[in-house]
Amino acid sequence: GTRVWQLDPDRPDPEIISRAAEIIKKGGLVAFPTETVYGLGANGLDGEAVAGIYRAKGRPSDNPLILHVADLDMANRLSRNLPPQAPLLMEKFWPGPLTLVVPKAGGIPQQVTGGLDTVAVRMPGHPVALALIKAAGVPIAAPSANRSGRPSPTTADHVLADLEGRVDAILDGGPAGLGLESTVLDLTGPCPIILRPGGVTYEQLAGVLKEVAIDRSVLGEKLSKDQVPRSPGMKYIHYAPAAPVILFEGEPEKVRQALSRRAAELSARGKRVGILATEETAAGYAGGAKILTMGRRKNPADAAALLFGRLRQFDQLQVDVILAEGMETRGIGLAVMNRLRRAASEIVKC
Ligand code: TXA
Ligand code: MG
Repeated sequence: GTRVWQLDPDRPDPEIISRAAEIIKKGGLVAFPTETVYGLGANGLDGEAVAGIYRAKGRPSDNPLILHVADLDMANRLSRNLPPQAPLLMEKFWPGPLTLVVPKAGGIPQQVTGGLDTVAVRMPGHPVALALIKAAGVPIAAPSANRSGRPSPTTADHVLADLEGRVDAILDGGPAGLGLESTVLDLTGPCPIILRPGGVTYEQLAGVLKEVAIDRSVLGEKLSKDQVPRSPGMKYIHYAPAAPVILFEGEPEKVRQALSRRAAELSARGKRVGILATEETAAGYAGGAKILTMGRRKNPADAAALLFGRLRQFDQLQVDVILAEGMETRGIGLAVMNRLRRAASEIVKC
């Protein structure tokens, strides 16, 4: 069975942390809160333990994992040759939601890197995560603690819903902070490239780095058949609730009209329709549909915090289809839109 341990997110009980760390050291699996989403952790230096993560999630084993560290020494030991931008980025954004892809050092199991010559490293900014890594004394490999393809978990209940009976323990430290995953930044090429937008924004990185690029796939462009994705995670369907998501993008009033029309059509055909709206727009939709909001349009951090939970709520409401409003791609809005586009089976440009 899966044990669930409640703990104070700001001052985690050392007794509970040490029990969880014992499980990690023995090769087991522990889900834990971070400042982004919940992670599913195993000893990152133990290939067998890491293989257990893939089994529990049902995740394709060529999709590599992030190694989570508690201090800079641990991070430095994971790279044979730290890129020149790394120290500054670590100083500015760690602990925090920035993952750096760097040349890997020897001794990192291939189950972590999916056979790549690089490794993804981050120092999480959550007291529970940091305490767990310190107590375990090893870097902790951790993907988001969801079944593969499902929305990432932002509460311990989400983790339990996906992984009960498949992991040894869950540390319940309340809701994760940001609600979306870390930014993945590749430092192994001539110019730093954002492979996945997340908690640290493009604008923040551009403020510190001489140059920074955004990978084409981030903006929702589909890769052609002969293109190799830079980040293996890019080629998989992600964040999808049970019902298909149709995303409406463009000028807000046109979005409202197109979305309303589609909702009416689908309802007329007997479909149960869910609408993902904002506080400002929710009242503009006619009754019949299940409407959930992602906070205020002018505050994309609301949407970041709420998005994954809302997608799971629509599952519980058993809607047949989810119609979602798009938002601007400024700041954290880029990460929100990246997740929505990847969850969507259809994108309507308005
Ligand atoms: O916020 C987060 O990053 C959360 C928490 C738990 O830390 N973790 C997380 O892990 O989102 P996961 O496994 O769901 O996503 C890791 C992403 C994937 O898209 C993967 O393809 C990419 O990082 N990645 C990992 N190692 C890589 C590498 N060596 N090169 C390129 N991309 C890599
Ligand atoms: Mg994930």
